[in-house]
Amino acid sequence: MNTEIKPRTKNLRRRNFTLRQLTLFEAVARTGSFTRTAEELHLTQPAVSNQIKQLEDQIGTPLFEHIGRRISPTEVGRELVVFCRDISQRIDEFENLLDDIKGLHHGVLNVSVVSTAEYFSPYLLARFCSHHPGVTVNLDVTNRDAVLKQLADNAPDMAIMGVPPEGANLVSQSFMPNPLVVIAAPNHMLAGMDDVPIKRVVKERFIIREPGSGTRDAFERFLNKSGSRLQNSMEMSSNEAIKHAVMAGLGLGVVSLHTLEMELKLGRLAIVDLVDFPLERQWYLVHRQGKRFSVAAQALKNFILTEAVHVVQATLPDRRVAAKPKRLIRRSIHSSE
Ligand code: PGA
Repeated sequence: MNTEIKPRTKNLRRRNFTLRQLTLFEAVARTGSFTRTAEELHLTQPAVSNQIKQLEDQIGTPLFEHIGRRISPTEVGRELVVFCRDISQRIDEFENLLDDIKGLHHGVLNVSVVSTAEYFSPYLLARFCSHHPGVTVNLDVTNRDAVLKQLADNAPDMAIMGVPPEGANLVSQSFMPNPLVVIAAPNHMLAGMDDVPIKRVVKERFIIREPGSGTRDAFERFLNKSGSRLQNSMEMSSNEAIKHAVMAGLGLGVVSLHTLEMELKLGRLAIVDLVDFPLERQWYLVHRQGKRFSVAAQALKNFILTEAVHVVQATLPDRRVAAKPKRLIRRSIHSSE
């Protein structure tokens, strides 16, 4: 008695047809036309017919019959259509599994942001994580100098900050405007004035951010360029402390418009209508050159670059405010009167 166990796939192997032929076959069965299949798959019509002919030779029976100008699958062809759809579903399942394994659905990402970005980054992460619930994102909030140091140490997957310095082996892409404005308590005399010159403002006491802050750096560069110097300033190392100090009447401050959502809504702060302001900075997504991204990190990067501007504008009190800060100046003054 012959007890040899034959492999179950023996016949398939002998037939030797390819995934490509099955894909073409499925398309012809679906469209009912060699020409339309060729157009859909960017091939020539003879290339499609040739592949189908080879498949028929392999299987040993015709797969299509002509009914008028249209072609329909034969009985064997109809069976093969079911088989093809089954294979295509299994391939999709395998691709999902691959995504899982590569970490699109699981994984831990480390993102560093400068302190001013803490006002919008959590909204971005909330939206991203709602699409990728298995991904954990750790957010480190610190100032610009500290973020640059972390990037040099290759600690975070990516960072959100103002424009990074050149020559630091970093890749950066801007994704959203970051307008810097001068704020005052609503009852401050400058809060009601139009087109205030910088020479007038520098006479006031300013509460400014700590050295190493991008906001401070941008303001100092502006002062230098305009040949002005602050006559009286105090340092505070957080935007929140600066806003509260300004509300308390300690002086004026310079902050990003992104930090002001609540205070503008409640009329607790006003924006000074300073000539040449707002300072138009940009937010950048930054990572080290040659950084190898996981699938999840790549997905987060793409999400921030394409979606951040929409997500963040939806969180501002008035979308027109972000587009035209000057309007906001007048609105917030009126609401405080
Ligand atoms: P900062 O950075 O929070 O350190 O001031 C903001 C920026 O770089 O624009």
